[in-house]
Formats: sequence, C-alpha cells, structure tokens
Amino acid sequence: MTGKESLDGKVAIVTGAGRGLGRSMALALARAGARVAVAARTAAELDAFVEETERAGGKAFACPTDITDEDSVERMVRAVTGRFGRVDILVNNSGIVASTPLVDQPAEEWDRVIATNLRGTYLATRAVGRHLLAQGSGKVVNIASNFALQGVAGHAAYSASKAGVIAFTRSMAIEWAPHGVQVNAIAPGYFATPLNAGLRADANTLAKVVRAIPARRMGEPDELRPWLLLLTGRASDFMTGEVIVIDGGQSVR
Ligand SMILES: NC(=O)c1ccc[n+]([C@@H]2O[C@H](COP(=O)([O-])OP(=O)(O)OC[C@H]3O[C@@H](n4cnc5c(N)ncnc54)[C@H](OP(=O)(O)O)[C@@H]3O)[C@@H](O)[C@H]2O)c1
Repeated sequence: MTGKESLDGKVAIVTGAGRGLGRSMALALARAGARVAVAARTAAELDAFVEETERAGGKAFACPTDITDEDSVERMVRAVTGRFGRVDILVNNSGIVASTPLVDQPAEEWDRVIATNLRGTYLATRAVGRHLLAQGSGKVVNIASNFALQGVAGHAAYSASKAGVIAFTRSMAIEWAPHGVQVNAIAPGYFATPLNAGLRADANTLAKVVRAIPARRMGEPDELRPWLLLLTGRASDFMTGEVIVIDGGQSVR
C-alpha cells in the first residue's frame, strides 16, 4: 500500500474507527503504509476493518476500547505497543453528539458527551504521549468540529466539548513542541456518516442543513484524508497547535 507521503514503519492508533470518519481516516493511514490499530467499543466493526485492510495488503489491529474508561485506554496503548512495538500517530476521533435543549438536558447526557469527546481525547493523548515523548517524535490529530467555532442551538454540550478539544490541542502543542511532537486538530463541518443518518433521512431537515452550507452539500468522509495525511506526515513537522476547518465555508459565512 502506498500513498503520496509514505508512512511506512509508522504505527497509528485511530479511535472511533469502526465506522464513519474514523474508518475512512484509518484506511487512508493504512494505504499510506502505516500499521493501524483501530479502537472503539463495537468489536465486530473493528474486525471488519482489519479484515478489509489485511486483504488489501495492509497491517491492522483491532483494539476494543471504551475511550471514556481510563483502564480501557491504558490497556489499548499497551496492546498496540505489545503488538507493533511502538506508536507514532494518534487520531482522537471517537465522538458522540447530543441535540437537546439545555433546560431539558439530563446531567448524565451532558457528562457522557464531555466524557467521550473531551475526557477520551485527554486519556488517549496522555497514554500515547508517554511513548511519543520517550522517542522524541510523534503526531496527534484531534477531531474537533466547526460547532466549536459558532453557536448552535441544542448543542451546548457537544460544542463545549469540541471547543475544549481545540483548547486542549493548543495547550498540548505548546507543551510537547520542544519534544518533537506535533498536536493539531481538524474541525469538520457536516460529513455524511452514521452520526447524522437520522438527520439525512429526513428530507426537510437535510434541505435546511444543506442551505446553511455555502458549498450546498455535505462533505464525503474521504475529503478529510489529504488533510489527515498532511498532519501525520513530515509536511507538518514545523506546524503545531493549528486547527484546519473543513466545512464547505459554513463557519466563515
Ligand atoms: N459527521 C460529521 O458531520 C461530523 C462533523 C464534525 C465533527 N465530527 C466528529 O468526527 C468524529 C467522528 O464522527 P462520525 O461522524 O464518524 O461519527 P460516527 O459515525 O457516529 O462514529 C463514531 C465512532 O466513535 C466511536 N465511539 C463512540 N463512543 C465511543 C466510546 N465511548 N469509546 C470508543 N469509541 C467510541 C464509535 O464506535 P462505538 O460506538 O462502537 O464505540 C464510532 O466508531 C466525532 O468526534 C465527531 O464529533 C463529525
């Protein structure tokens, strides 16, 4: 498997890679030559990824993980380094959304969104970071959202979690820059994935969403791949703490 920039010899972990954007990005890394560990709770989806990747000549490893759980995340990183001997790239992609008016939002739902999107990013970055700092190189890519950059009614928990991911990205970029580790973020707008299948199934809601996007369409998951390869390859060795927004112009209108 080859890509524009080779990731031969590199080991990547992609969280939330069972489906949607994570799966697409994990495939891109495998095609660029990285050995890819995929982590999420649904083991069957991870196994399907491994099978597809290995059939195409790549190397992949399924790591069932609950990103909100400290022990589970520590086990994930031990399993990956045990299997592949190292880790170079972490893509913090696991995420959930909740769209509930704030006065109706149970604290349990708020906590679940923050735990998955923000605490999960912290736990995985910390566990992988120990290896990256020890080897003096590495790339962390956090998947934020354009909802972190604009107000969105009904999405306070999600927007706050993703704004937290951006602030976390900038702080870690500064903390780890002297160690040769770059930490950047991608902030996608609407991309067609299982996350928003419900929204896309309703023609009126879909039309309303698409009207708000200057490009007048949703993104396709493979449109993130070139940016991910930029942020995981040598091209970004002097780039850290940045947020690449890919949203068809929605957040600059
Ligand atoms: N699609 C969009 O329009 C869009 C826009 C902006 C940002 N994003 C962000 O992009 C990322 C991926 O979104 P997507 O659209 O691909 O979502 P998706 O299709 O719903 O996939 C989400 C992935 O996250 C995993 N996940 C959820 N909770 C987890 C947990 N506790 N532990 C481990 N993994 C967990 C899921 O696997 P399991 O359920 O099996 O654990 C799944 O593999 C998310 O962070 C999302 O916020 C998406």
